[in-house]
Amino acid sequence: MKFYLAPMEGLTGYVYRNAYHALFPAMDKYFTPFISPSQKRGMRTREKKDVAPENNLGMYTVPQLMANRSEPFLEVVRILHGLGYQEINLNLGCPSPTVVTKGKGAGFLDEPRLLDRFFNEVFKHMEGEPALRDIRLSVKSRLGISFSDEFPDILKVFNAHPLSEIILHPRVQEDFYNNRPDLCAFAYALVNSEHPICYNGNLFSKNDYQKFIKEFPDTPAVMLGRGILANPALLMDIQNKQGLTLSMLKEYHNLLYKGYQGEMNGERDVLFKMKELWFYIGALFPDANKELKKIKKSNHYMEYEAAVNSIFSQYEIYTDITF
Ligand SMILES: Cc1cc2nc3c(=O)[nH]c(=O)nc-3n(C[C@H](O)[C@H](O)[C@H](O)COP(=O)(O)O)c2cc1C
Repeated sequence: MKFYLAPMEGLTGYVYRNAYHALFPAMDKYFTPFISPSQKRGMRTREKKDVAPENNLGMYTVPQLMANRSEPFLEVVRILHGLGYQEINLNLGCPSPTVVTKGKGAGFLDEPRLLDRFFNEVFKHMEGEPALRDIRLSVKSRLGISFSDEFPDILKVFNAHPLSEIILHPRVQEDFYNNRPDLCAFAYALVNSEHPICYNGNLFSKNDYQKFIKEFPDTPAVMLGRGILANPALLMDIQNKQGLTLSMLKEYHNLLYKGYQGEMNGERDVLFKMKELWFYIGALFPDANKELKKIKKSNHYMEYEAAVNSIFSQYEIYTDITF
């Protein structure tokens, strides 16, 4: 089984990926949060920093792009290839209305014919440019916009092109993160896809993983998102190694805290990042509501650190998590 770290905008940037990689079992692939190429500017400074080779040492990082037009997409693919990347992932899953109304992310799934044309153009160019010929293009997709029965037509498009892998989050766009992943639709994809399939969705504990793998023992890869953010030792649990300890969590927290302080200017920005992290690791401390509220309200390092220390010194870790 291969394990991938999910791309999560605002959360799994290079500081996060490096901290995780330094302390916990290595993922087979680390996907970056999406980069949105535009005709004029290629990549933003923040995006360039996230994929800079020196910020991704020793990890197999896959940059993810969100686009629905081949030219800006290829422009950024060329830049990424120049940086040494051999695999690029296309985001076909983002459910956010601002993205979907532009026909990007999961919005692109509403137009299988346009998606087909996009892949035709992209693969034609990639095959025509010797430098790009060996680049692997994978997709991270949902099942459709409103109903799972949209998926067969989408899969036909995927099957018609030389994609390297399909990461499937078996929900539709309108689900956002509600409802359960549709495992029947996932089973359909496993049987009918011409390409390797990776499963993604709601694997938050060893128990979730074991149930999933019992039902789908032939799945070659799974991608973990919120489960890893909440419990960075989830892979250790899955591999029957020692689970998360408070000292591991402290080390991880401190590495991230220092990492963000080195990357960002000002307490506000750093604390914003740490609060986003606590949204997930807070689930490890179900009885620490008072202190978690203090973290949420903190405006200065001193208040933040006092609340964090209070949690770490008073509470045990509880890893049976769900969202
Ligand atoms: C805050 C947040 C940001 C996300 N950002 C991205 C993203 O940039 N690209 C992407 O393909 N998916 C993104 N996702 C979706 C996750 O990669 C993943 O598909 C989703 O969380 C389901 O997996 P999980 O149940 O293991 O968390 C995001 C999800 C969340 C909650």
